[in-house]
Formats: sequence, structure tokens, C-alpha cells
Amino acid sequence: MSTNNKKLFLETYGCQMNVADSEVVASIMEHDGFAITKTREEADLILVNTCSIRENAETRVRGRVQGFSELKKKNPKLLVGVIGCMAERLGEKLFEEEKNVNLVVGPDAYMDLPLLVRKAENGENAINIELSLTETYKDICPSRIDETSISGFVSIMRGCNNFCTYCIVPYTRGRERSRNPESILKEVKDLADKGYKEVTLLGQNVNSFSYKNSVNQVSFPELLEMVAVSVPNMRIRFATSHPKDMSDDTLHVIARNKNICNFIHLPVQSGSDSVLKNMRRKYTQEWYKSKIEAIRKIIPDCGLSSDIFCGFYNESDEDFNETIELMKWAKYDLAYMFKYSERPGTYAYKNMKDNIPETVKQKRLEQMIELQNQISLENNQGDLGKVFEVLVEGISKKSDQEVYGRTQQNKVAVFPKKDYKVGDFVNVLIKSCTKATLIGEAV
Ligand code: SAH
Ligand code: SF4
Ligand code: F3S
Repeated sequence: MSTNNKKLFLETYGCQMNVADSEVVASIMEHDGFAITKTREEADLILVNTCSIRENAETRVRGRVQGFSELKKKNPKLLVGVIGCMAERLGEKLFEEEKNVNLVVGPDAYMDLPLLVRKAENGENAINIELSLTETYKDICPSRIDETSISGFVSIMRGCNNFCTYCIVPYTRGRERSRNPESILKEVKDLADKGYKEVTLLGQNVNSFSYKNSVNQVSFPELLEMVAVSVPNMRIRFATSHPKDMSDDTLHVIARNKNICNFIHLPVQSGSDSVLKNMRRKYTQEWYKSKIEAIRKIIPDCGLSSDIFCGFYNESDEDFNETIELMKWAKYDLAYMFKYSERPGTYAYKNMKDNIPETVKQKRLEQMIELQNQISLENNQGDLGKVFEVLVEGISKKSDQEVYGRTQQNKVAVFPKKDYKVGDFVNVLIKSCTKATLIGEAV
């Protein structure tokens, strides 16, 4: 690869998809001669990969971009680009609203980055926010930015067609498209060759993965099994599963392939049928529960997590109480919990007033968090005395005599370091716990 003696600093916000995209961006820029730096001060170009999912995600990025003023004073040639979902949502407006921004590039336009950087170097505002029906970056081999990592992401599809009424993703990421299974397998094998021990297959709704060519059609459970068989010594995870498309086929594939982790992230969003209807989630509480029952039956020791948010349009105390009851019933190991944040451009923004007061949202959120903390603790207590296979990810932050890693069920476990190193699979007997961590000893 040729070099242009220029350095790129990349900063990533938002979901795992963005983490994977940043590695694609790094690869494209390295081919253009840039070197990746971990020091902002020596960068010629800073790219911030951004998220629009809730207003506070955007506020954080704006603060960050404004903070680059100092760097720009010291290095007047420094270029700053906003890429990803905020770039897509705000477009040209970013140049007006954030004086430090020189480039705006949406999630489907990264191949155009080298050209856009050249434009920006010539003093123009460079922008490309065109969405694509076909772009999957299938021919890009992502640069693994964190060389010490043993766990990588591979995106298997892009975009989303679900248009949940509250959600900005279909607007920032465009239409759903599945990537060629061959290029997915190639990338997974490349991770294996580089010493990675775990891969997470990514999409907004992986269960609707479907790749067709003239000869055959590949579904998500088929792809999952192909991946598992191709790298038998790697752990396989995937996210996110939309409950409406979760099939028993997928559950059986997980159950029969030892290296596919017994863990499912199945966001419920709300426990109330009327709220779910307003959200356009296309399932009911009953349907959702039947999915959880199928998981518990087919994969008896499966870890389970969810996304839930409170305070959506017209959510009454009774509606919210149904969410609380569902949480008690589902007993998630982990839940990501939020307050509804109205997103301009969505169906809800246009048609469903953000009519739950902030104080009520806050109170409900706190109630959910408190309940989930208690459930997480109880679930962890249920693991005492059991042995789990843990993949070591690093040295514990609390003590250099201990390592941490995760069980197949995605729970963090800590145990004495001895001679174990990052990337080892170790059987660990759990002896105590907190709500967030299992504590044990290798056996
Ligand atoms: N594709 C995934 C979710 C991606 S967004 C799925 O359908 O499950 C991650 C989470 O952010 C969502 O599951 C939802 O809980 C939350 N979220 C999305 N839009 C939101 C909004 N406008 N306000 C608050 N939370 C939101
Ligand atoms: Fe958003 Fe719904 Fe698509 Fe998930 S499935 S990304 S919540 S529109
Ligand atoms: Fe955020 Fe875009 Fe992901 S809005 S959650 S970075 S798809």
C-alpha cells in the first residue's frame, strides 16, 4: 500500500454496526495512503462515526465536534468529517450548524471518502449522503483497528425495512439488503486466521437475512450454520433478532452447533399490546412470550437480553405496568433501557405527539432499572456452583491478578489470572457474584 504521510483519527459512537463500519472506513482510507493514529493531536483528518438513535446521542457528538476547535487552531489544515447516521440525517445542515465540519458522509457513501477528502483539502464542503439499494462493502476487507482484540464484528446485512414508528434507522441506513454469503464467510475466516476467537454477525434484523442469486437462496439459519461449520474453533454470536422474524429453525441451529453461543438478544420494547401496535412492532405480548418459551425449550441454558424503552406516545400507567410485568416474567439477564426520544422525520414525529412528561419518563425508567438490577442479581445468584466456559478478554480493571471474559450466555466472569491469557477458553466454577459480574475459579 502506498502512503501519503497523512494520519487519520477515527472515533466511533452508536451501535456495533458503526464499530464494524469504522473498520471498513479505516480500510478504505488506508488504501488511499492514510495511516491510522490513536493520537488526535497528530491527525490530519478526524472522522467521527455518529449515531442518531436518541437526541442525547447527537448532543454528545456535537459537543465532541465543537471541542475540536482547539486542535484546528493548532493545525489549520486539520479536516473534520462527520460520517454515519447523523451525517445522513442532517446532511448540509451540519456545515451550517457546526463550523468545524468539513466533510459529511452517509453510511452508504464510504467508497467515495478518498475523493471527498481531496475536495475538502481544496477548501470545499464535501458531502455525499446518497443511500444505496445495493452497497454492502462486500469487497472491502475491514482493518481491525484494535489489534489486541479477539472478538470481531462482521456485518451480514445493512439497512432496515421495518419502519418502527419511533425509529430513525430506516432513514439513516436505507433499505435492507443482505450481503453475499461467500464474502461473509471469507471475512469470518480472515478473522480466524488473524487469531480471533469470537465473531458477532450483525444486522438490524438478522432473522430476515435472505440472499438470492441465480442458483440458490440462503436464509439466516442456513448462513448461521455455514459460518459455525466453517470456523469450528470460534464462538459465533449474532444481533439483533426482531421477535417477529425469529424462527424455531434458528433456535435448532443454535442448539446443535456447540460454537454458536447460547445467547439471544430479543428486544421487546414494550409489554403493552396497544403500545406495541403504536410502535408498529408487528407482534403482541403473547407472540413475544411464545418466542421466549420456544427459546427456553429448545436451548435450555440460553442467556437472554432485551431493549426496552418507556414513555412512548400514549403510554399509560397500565401500559407501563404491563412492561414491568413482562420484565418480571421474561427475567432477562441484561436489558438496555431508555426513555423515548422523539426523532424528527419518523412516523411518530409526524403523527404521534410526544405526550408523556419528562418527569414521568424519568420515573418509569428508574423503576425499570431498579427492577432489572434485581433480576440480573437473582439470575447471577442462580449461576452459583455452576461451571461455564469463559473466553478470556483481558486483565480485570480491579486487579491485575485477575482476568475477565464472558460466558456463552454473555455474562462477564472474573477469575484468578494464573497463566491464562487473552483468547483462552477456560472452564470456570462460579463462587460468588454481583448484579453485573460472576466471580469464580478455573477448574
Ligand atoms: N434493530 C434493533 C434496534 C436498533 S436501535 C431492533 O429492532 O431491535 C437500538 C434500540 O434503541 C432499540 O431497540 C430501541 O429500544 C431503542 N430506540 C430506538 N429508537 C428510539 C427512540 N426514538 N427513543 C428511545 N429509544 C429508541
Ligand atoms: Fe429501528 Fe425497528 Fe428497524 Fe430496529 S427493526 S432498526 S427498531 S425500525
Ligand atoms: Fe445509531 Fe445508526 Fe446504529 S442511529 S444505533 S448508529 S444504526
